[in-house]
Amino acid sequence: MKQLAALIALAVPLYAVPAHASPELAAKSKCMTCHQVDKKVLGPSFKEISAKYKGQKGAEAMLTDGMLKGVKGKWGKIPMPPQKIAPADAQTLAKWILSL
Ligand code: HEC
Repeated sequence: MKQLAALIALAVPLYAVPAHASPELAAKSKCMTCHQVDKKVLGPSFKEISAKYKGQKGAEAMLTDGMLKGVKGKWGKIPMPPQKIAPADAQTLAKWILSL
């Protein structure tokens, strides 16, 4: 029984984030100045990014890292500057983008 309780405790945080939290987080984090979900703006659309990396090993960590450190030369001539967001938020956003 104790083991079951521990399993439930571990599983709960995975479902604690409401599904609409990430678009709001993206807007709040000013990602939408340069990105849209399904249209290229300054940066590639989040759906294009998802299509390119979905299912690849380490994609989530790579995108998280890119947001925090900046990315250049992958999609075009315009680089993405490092984003001033918490690493946990960056990871949430990477997960969301890859789920699109
Ligand atoms: C100043 C404009 C700008 C802002 C703000 C911005 N981005 Fe970007 N982003 C870009 C550009 C431009 C690229 C393409 C860079 C390249 O070609 O390497 C990009 C690329 C990306 C990529 C793809 C990285 C890769 O490895 O291919 C992800 C993921 C991403 N952005 C997420 C975000 C998120 C999440 C935010 C908000 C926290 C954000 N961006 C804010 C301009 C921006």
